[in-house]
Formats: sequence, C-alpha cells, structure tokens
Amino acid sequence: MAILIDRSTRVLVQGITGREGQARTRLMLDYGTRVVGGVTPGKAGQAVLGVPVFDSAAEAMSRLKSDPSVGGIDASVLFVPAGAVKDAALDAIGAGVPLVVLVADRVPVWDAMAIASAARARGARFVGPNTLGIASPGKAVIGMIGGRAESAREWFKPPRPTGVGVISRSGGMSSSTAYYLGQAGVRISSIVHVGGDAVLGLRVPEVALMFEEDAETDAIAVFGEIGGSQEEDLAELMRAGRVRKPVVAYVGGKAAKAGTRFSHAGAIIEGTRGTHAGKVAALREAGAVVVESFGELPEAVVGVLRGRGSRSLMTEAERKAVWTTGITRIEPNKVAVRGRDIAELMGRTSFGAAVYLILTGRMPDERVGRLMDAILVSSIDHGATPPSCLAARTVASTGASLSASVAAGISSINRHHGGAIEDCARFLGGLIATARSSGRTRDEVAAAEVGRIKATGERISGFGHRIHTKDPRTGRLFELAAEAGLDEARGEHIAAARAVERAFAAIGRPLPINVDGAIGAILADLGVEPRVFNGVFMIARVPGLVAHVVEEQTRERPMRRIDPVNHAYDGPM
Ligand SMILES: CC(C)(COP(=O)(O)OP(=O)(O)OC[C@H]1O[C@@H](n2cnc3c(N)ncnc32)[C@H](O)[C@@H]1OP(=O)(O)O)[C@@H](O)C(=O)NCCC(=O)NCCS
Repeated sequence: MAILIDRSTRVLVQGITGREGQARTRLMLDYGTRVVGGVTPGKAGQAVLGVPVFDSAAEAMSRLKSDPSVGGIDASVLFVPAGAVKDAALDAIGAGVPLVVLVADRVPVWDAMAIASAARARGARFVGPNTLGIASPGKAVIGMIGGRAESAREWFKPPRPTGVGVISRSGGMSSSTAYYLGQAGVRISSIVHVGGDAVLGLRVPEVALMFEEDAETDAIAVFGEIGGSQEEDLAELMRAGRVRKPVVAYVGGKAAKAGTRFSHAGAIIEGTRGTHAGKVAALREAGAVVVESFGELPEAVVGVLRGRGSRSLMTEAERKAVWTTGITRIEPNKVAVRGRDIAELMGRTSFGAAVYLILTGRMPDERVGRLMDAILVSSIDHGATPPSCLAARTVASTGASLSASVAAGISSINRHHGGAIEDCARFLGGLIATARSSGRTRDEVAAAEVGRIKATGERISGFGHRIHTKDPRTGRLFELAAEAGLDEARGEHIAAARAVERAFAAIGRPLPINVDGAIGAILADLGVEPRVFNGVFMIARVPGLVAHVVEEQTRERPMRRIDPVNHAYDGPM
C-alpha cells in the first residue's frame, strides 16, 4: 500500500497557476498522480492542464466532494511563497484536507506553529515546511521529488512486492538516497522528505511508525542530520519495540561545530543536544545499523535485506537490465502481457479487451471488452476516400510491398485524420473542468462555448459529419457504453457531449456527435490516456488498409490515377 500517498490519492495543488505550481503539476500528472483540482485566489474558472482551478481550498473541497467522479480531496501540496503558506495551509486544513505538504522554504516559525496547532485541532497531518515532498514509486509523487516523471520512474524502483522506506531530513539527499539504493538493487516503498526547518509536521519517528505498519515496507533507510531530536526519538521507538523493522541510517554533519547552522534551519547543535555522536550512539544502542559515510549506506541496506531473505532486492537480471518494460514478460515457455498469461487470455478474452489491457495495464470486465470491440469495429474502414486509404492505395499502385503501402496509410493518420477523437475528448475535458471550477452546470458552459464558437467561426472536433446527419455508429456505441455502466449519469465526458448537442440544438443548428467524438468521449470515460487515442484508431484501421492494398494490387492496373488530377500550374512561366 506504501505510506501517505498512492495511486488513488486525490491531490489538490495550491498555487497551481504560479511558476512552480504549473511546472510541478505537469510532472505529477505525468507520473500518474491523481491531481483533481488547484487553487489560486481570484483565478477560479481557469483550468491548468485540464485541472480545474478554484478560489480557495474550501471551495475546491465542497465542489469536488459533490462531484461523483471525484468525491473529495485526500492531500494538498502548496506551491505558494513562504509569506502565503500560513493562509493557504489553514484554508486546506479548515476545509478538511487530511494531509498537507508545504514545499516553500523560509516559512516563518510562528506560521509553522500556527499550522501545527490548526492541524492538531482538526486531526490533519502535514509534511514540511521546506520539503521536497513524498513519493510512492510506481504510484504517485507529491511535490518535487525525482524531478521529471521519466527520471523519477527510472531512479526509484517500485516495490515488488516489498521495498525499503526512505526517510530523509535533506531534500536533495532524499532523491539521492533512493537513487543509490535503486542502483544497488533495492526497491523503494515510499520516500518522505520531512523538511529542513526547525518546526515540522511529520518528523522522522512518526514516518518510521507509518513504515512499521506498512505491509509493503520491510526495512527503513534514514538520512539523518545533526540538530533536534528526531533520530534520538526514533531510537527511543526502536528501544520500546514500536519500530521493529530494521533501520539503516546515515547521520550528516559530523564535522559541524556547535552553534553553527549546517545547511538547514533545523540542523544546528545547541549545547549538547543534537550532536552527531549522540545520534549515532542512540541509534546504534537501539539496534540500527549506522554507517560512517553516505557511500556505505546502499551496501549496508543490501546486507540487511540479504540477511533477511527480503524480496525488496531486485534479481540480478532486473539489475542488469539496460532498460525496462512494463508491458510483456518473456520467460522460457511463458509469455505474460501486463502480468497476464497470454495462453490464459487466448480464447477467453476478446481482442478489444486485450487492446484495453495492453494500453492501460488494467483487465476490463466483459462489458467494457465488448465496448472496446465495438469501437474497433466502428473504425475498421470508412470507405475509399479518407486520406489513409488514398495514401495506402496510391503507394500500393506503384508496386510497393504490403507493409510499405499499409505504413503509408498509417502515416497519414494524424491530427486532421483520426485526431478528432483526442481533440474532442480534450475539449470535453476542458468543459468539465470549467464547469467544476466555475460552479456552472455543464449545459451552461456548453451553451457559452457553442456561442463563442459560433461567433468566432471555430469548429468543434467530433461533432457533425459531411455525409451523415445521424451517424449510424454513435447510437450503437452509446448503447453499448450504457451497458458497460457509462451513461450520462456515470460517464462525465458522455454527459458533456450530450450537453454540447443540446446547446447546438438550442441555437437551431443541430450538430450531433459523430463517431470520432463518441469514441473520444467513451475512451476518456473508460480512463484511457488521450495520447493513445490516435493509436486506437490506427489499431482499428489496419485491417481495412490491408484489404484496400490487396484489392488495389490484385484488381487494378499499376500506377492508377487514384486522387483527382484536376490541377493547374500557377508558378513562374
Ligand atoms: C513555493 C515556491 C516554489 C513558489 O515559487 P513560484 O512558483 O516561483 O511562485 P509564483 O509567485 O510563481 O506562484 C505562486 C502562486 O501562488 C499563488 N498564491 C498565493 N497565495 C495563495 C493561496 N493562499 N492559495 C493558493 N495560491 C496562492 C499566487 O497567486 C501565485 O500564483 P499566480 O502566479 O498565478 O498569481 C517558492 O516560493 C519556494 O519556496 N521555493 C523554494 C522551494 C524549496 O526549495 N523547498 C525545499 C525543498 S528541499
């Protein structure tokens, strides 16, 4: 399960329209974090990367709680400057957000104390201030840990089935500790940077207690430092038998002199408290392995894990892999797609269900499989005139191979051919976000959008058709979607599409959703990533293209004129 955050954690970003707020929201979304809303006072009604913006955390909580597709907020991360942290944190805690992550540095100590007291009163937890955040590898990131999603994915090896919990008092070293552990073949359950300030929310001992309870964690690695009593308090918990999992620690600041601040506000030795020697001795007496230099930490963790026969260690083959894939595993006499034995899938799983499985990693139920089949069938061929077919047949008529001819057709599937599926889904997603953040109904937002589009002469992708006034395929797709549990009440993109149709009808210009729009709305409601929508269209169209290429090569004369040749020259004479 990891600690504090996982795949299902619904995250609010306060300060989402700011510089870091926007940049980090993109990274968190890319990693898979479920960001459900943002806050910047005075900016309600906007959307950042499809995430609705509210004026306050209180407003976000009330709107998102009543939205059945979200249902609430589990955590908030604050990318607001130090001076605004207290107000923003009290806003979140007052709204009932149970976990608040305070990224900013230089938050006044009095403000941190006021936040601590409000959190205690409401039973909320907070991490920071001055924290890089939390990461649960393979599940979610909140804050700045790991930088780009690609690097976070590459550096931190997810638990399988267990990993080591990392607690750090240093931001940069939280990532480095998890990175070097990964290089040594150690999997990570969660990483928590508790923050560098003197007054903090969750401290090292509290986080260790959470790792103790976590079934996915079987050892704890600590990057400690001088100052305060976090390491001593952890040692106390170990002595009392409340933390029984092995602890491997490094304590930074050995050379620091008393009274000198060592990098962080919280890292200061005052009198005899918080010394390096005192912390090392307390941890060792309590049974922890404490290494002298940071470089020794990974091997010490490996040694402890090996001694326990822990499954947090990667196999030699996993460690040596130059790159990894999460799609298909091949072993002698065994092939497993997304963790499912291919022989078991064959004959029991429809092609549509298998496509859904390989694209999302999730096994759909039978009704969703049938809906995916219907989507693929609906796009198998749209006649001889679409660009993909013209391209494939033209290339085929030159004597090119089957693969080259089909590839030519596939190459023409882009933004303006097949792209309406993704464009329409993104348009509907924006409409939903605007309705959510502005408090207006989807019908009101759709009416405003249709009015704007009419005034500017723009077109909405996925609505209307040059031949069909009532597309024969959309009715059937929506029927199957309803059977799969997606109707206007449960499928928010489908509901938004219906609102747009009503808005067009209301201005006397009925413009029904077409097959591309319907597929976009349904795939979005099925939780498929919009960036693969064009791929679904390609998967569906390949059989049609193969049929056209073979027909062209077996029935027609080579170098046939396929495209209209009616053209005139208007260059220099
Ligand atoms: C927190 C921090 C990252 C913000 O920096 P930033 O993104 O450059 O700041 P910006 O001014 O661009 O954005 C802040 C946003 O918060 C918004 N904001 C202010 N008060 C707010 C509140 N109560 N609720 C929500 N948003 C608020 C601002 O309006 C602003 O948005 P805008 O630009 O759209 O108006 C920066 O102040 C900081 O502390 N950096 C250091 C972080 C760090 O290193 N931490 C320790 C890791 S080890």
